[in-house]
Amino acid sequence: MDVLQAIRERRSIRKYLDTPVEDEKIQAILEAGRWAPSASNRQPWHFIVIRDAETRRRLAEAHPYGRFMAESPVVIVVLAIPARHQKYHLCDPHNAMQNMLLAAYALGLGTCWVGVRNTPMENRFREILGVPRGLRVVCAFPVGYPAETAESSREPLEKIVSYERYGG
Ligand SMILES: Cc1cc2nc3c(=O)[nH]c(=O)nc-3n(C[C@H](O)[C@H](O)[C@H](O)COP(=O)(O)O)c2cc1C
Repeated sequence: MDVLQAIRERRSIRKYLDTPVEDEKIQAILEAGRWAPSASNRQPWHFIVIRDAETRRRLAEAHPYGRFMAESPVVIVVLAIPARHQKYHLCDPHNAMQNMLLAAYALGLGTCWVGVRNTPMENRFREILGVPRGLRVVCAFPVGYPAETAESSREPLEKIVSYERYGG
């Protein structure tokens, strides 16, 4: 699938079929994360792939806006490694996250960004997944075949773009 098409058409999916997701597709999604840009190419990220239903249930229970993680066959959690880059360790895992959401869409899968960092859920995720203190839990996303179609909207370009100078 063309990258522009994936960017335009990807939507957050919050209902999933229980059809298993093929290992090759999960590997392709992780590869897309691995090839994200990062400051000084420090790659300050780590990804945890969770298929275990009980672990997914516990994560879902811990996150009031991520209950659907109990239903998708796979959840991927994105961590930041502050020791790799003091300034950009939070920005770069988000780059990887966006790559992975687009890759999943191109492979026919649904996802939804679930924010974790700086919420009360971060420590709970840390406990459930055994994440060491030095790392941050940035975000997570369910992966599965969609059981819904979703719509969204964006502000028009005229409202969010200036040319040459702010407001121009
Ligand atoms: C940083 C961030 C955190 C988000 N957290 C959640 C969340 O906890 N639960 C959820 O259902 N959606 C979450 N979303 C998804 C947004 O609601 C969604 O991307 C937005 O409404 C636009 O819809 P679209 O993704 O279908 O285009 C999050 C998105 C971002 C970028």
